[in-house]
Amino acid sequence: MILILLGPPGAGKGSQATKIINNFGVTHISTGDIFRKNIKEETELGLKVKEIIASGSLVSDELTNELVFDRLSNETLNAGFMLDGYPRNINQAKALDEWLSKNSRELTKVIYIDADIEVLISRISGRRVCKNCGATYHVTNLSPKVEGICDVCGSQLVQRPDDNEETARQRIEIYEEQTSPLINYYEKVGKLQKFNGNNEIDEVYVEIENSLK
Ligand code: AP5
Repeated sequence: MILILLGPPGAGKGSQATKIINNFGVTHISTGDIFRKNIKEETELGLKVKEIIASGSLVSDELTNELVFDRLSNETLNAGFMLDGYPRNINQAKALDEWLSKNSRELTKVIYIDADIEVLISRISGRRVCKNCGATYHVTNLSPKVEGICDVCGSQLVQRPDDNEETARQRIEIYEEQTSPLINYYEKVGKLQKFNGNNEIDEVYVEIENSLK
């Protein structure tokens, strides 16, 4: 199974990804997570992309494609894989098509999650993530048992530098300009299925799960 998770910032891609990988065993490849890990570890890549990500802009296609194809070549992908946050524009989608064809693999489905803009802003501004294990919470929708502390590993919860309201609006604008053309791109080849991300996390997941069975 080869899946793409598509949708605006805050639509719930990461939240649904956790459930999909737990139930279907696919390898999760999130470009955002990979970039953030590199920033945290202060690698050469991390230093290159730190400012770009904090400002809400996109990292270059060249760097992103290389990172994704390296990862795909080095993973055991028996149960398949799920790309989260990639592709992010038509150039990246074409590069992925080429990679799939070269490797005789076929895209199964694009899971497109959408939600209203004010819902996105409130989710992004209220999101908190664990500094250590990356588990995601929300100050009102999904609060931890102890305020500011991760339920999973007990570490401190922090706010992503790109999660303030101003940067969130900028990220949504970039999504509209550069990423939303992918909806039509994948619709045309009959691969896209839309899910209403305004609904509760579990409700969205049940619909996704049914569509993958
Ligand atoms: P990335 O990490 O991909 O971020 P994003 O696409 O902006 O998505 P988010 O992580 O903000 O949101 P999400 O949809 O995963 O929502 P979540 O489930 O966490 O990218 C970050 C940056 O990296 C980019 O800006 C760019 O700079 C760079 N980058 C990444 N990929 C790139 C690429 N391919 N090319 C170039 N640059 C790239 O949910 C959000 C909050 O809402 C959480 O608190 C959650 O608990 C809550 N929530 C979620 N769903 C629900 C629900 N249904 N009901 C109630 N609350 C919910």
